Amino acid sequence: MTTIIKGNIVSASAPGSLEITEHGYLVSEDGVIAGVYQELPPQYRAAEAEDWGDCLILQSLTDLHTHAPQYPMLSMGMDLPLLDWLNAYAFPTEARFADPGYAREVYRWLARDLLANGTTRVCIFSSLHRQATLILMEELEKAGIVGYAGKVNMDRGGGAGLQETTEESERETLRWLDECRQFRHVRPILTPRFTPSCTDELMAFLGGLARERSLPVQSHLSENLAEMDLVRRLHPDCRQYWETYAKFGLWNHQTLMAHCVHSDARERKAMRDAGVTAVHCASSNNSICSGIAPVRVLMNEGVRVALGTDVAGGSSISMFDAVADAIRASKDRRILDRWQTDFLTVAEGWYLGTSAGAAFFGDAPGFAAGNPLHALALDDSRLLQPHPLSVRERFERCVYLRQPGAIRAVWSAGRKVFSAD
Ligand code: GUN
Ligand code: FE
Repeated sequence: MTTIIKGNIVSASAPGSLEITEHGYLVSEDGVIAGVYQELPPQYRAAEAEDWGDCLILQSLTDLHTHAPQYPMLSMGMDLPLLDWLNAYAFPTEARFADPGYAREVYRWLARDLLANGTTRVCIFSSLHRQATLILMEELEKAGIVGYAGKVNMDRGGGAGLQETTEESERETLRWLDECRQFRHVRPILTPRFTPSCTDELMAFLGGLARERSLPVQSHLSENLAEMDLVRRLHPDCRQYWETYAKFGLWNHQTLMAHCVHSDARERKAMRDAGVTAVHCASSNNSICSGIAPVRVLMNEGVRVALGTDVAGGSSISMFDAVADAIRASKDRRILDRWQTDFLTVAEGWYLGTSAGAAFFGDAPGFAAGNPLHALALDDSRLLQPHPLSVRERFERCVYLRQPGAIRAVWSAGRKVFSAD
C-alpha cells in the first residue's frame, strides 16, 4: 500500500540540521519510507495523496525513558530528592498496579495520551508486576505504539508494598518473557530498576539473560548525589556507578541509562566505549533537583544521547516538552560552566527527541528512505500570524509552544494510529 502525505515536511536529517521541503510529499510503501519529494514522482501520481495543506509534517517522537505506573502521579509530589521521593510517592503509586483492573484503566489512557502528544516509540518501565506489565504491552500494542517495555526487577529497598524476593523476581521475569512473545511491536527489555534495588544475585541473573537472549537493558545511572553515595556503599569493589552494571554484563550497545547527570569523564568514556545510550531527562532532573546533566559534553565526547520524559519525575508526557526542556537545561549548563559549553540549538534538540531516539530502533536520521513511517501532522493555524513566517520559524515556535489539539494525525510503523477529528 502507498501512503502519500502532503504538507510542509521538516525532519532532523543530521545533528543540528533540518531538512525542509515546503508543500512537499512524504511517501511510504507498505509502511516503509520511499522518500521526500518536492514533486511527486510519476509512479505515484495515480495514488491518492492526503493533503494537509499548510500543516507541518514532522517525525513523531521517541521517548527513551519513562515510567508507565507513575502516570497517575504526573505533575504531583515533586518536593523531595530522589531517594525520599521514591519512598514517599513513586513506590506507593507503583504498588497499586498489583490490581490488573487499575493497570488496564491507566495504561489505556497512557497509550492514547502518548499518541495524542506525538510519541510513537517508547522504552518504558512497568512496575514489578508481571500481569500489569503484560497489560501495558497489550495496550501499547493495541494503540499502535512501537517499542520496548520492561517488567521492573527489585528485590531490595522497595519496602513492604513493592518488593519481590530474588527467587520471585527471577521466576516472574522468565514467565513474563514467555508470555509476551505474542506482541509484535512491543518487545521486552530487561529492567533492573537501579543498583540499589537489585542484589548481586539478581543482577548476575539478569546479565546472564541479557547475554543468552540478546535482550536490551534499561536502568538509571548517576542521577543524584545521595544515590551515588549509596551505590558506593553497596559496591565498595567498584570505583564508579557504571561498573556495578558492567560487572554483571549489563553494559553494552543495547543498554539505555537514564540521567547521567553526575557522570564524570571516566564514566562518560565507559559509555562511549561500550556504545551505551545516555537518556537525558531534563524535566525530571529539574523537578526532583537532581542537577543539570552535561548533555552537550556527552555529545561532544561521542556518547550516544537521546531524550526521555521520565514521567513522573518529569512533569510532562510530551516529548515536545522534553525537547524544549533539554534546550533550556543546556543553557543553564552553559551559564553554570561560565559560558564554556555550547547550548543545544532547536535543531539539535529536535534531533535528540526524534532521530537520536529512533537510532535505538535502527533507523537512519530523519525521513530517510528505508525507515518505517513514524510521522505527525501539526496544525499551527490557530496561532497568531500577523506577518508571514517561514516554515523554520513556525517549526521553532511549535517546539516551544504547546497548542492543545494541534497534533491532527499520527502515523506509527506505517499506519495512521491517531486522528484528532
Ligand atoms: N531511580 C530508580 N527508580 C527511579 C524512578 O522511578 N525515577 C527516577 N527518576 N529515578 C529512579
Ligand atoms: Fe526514571
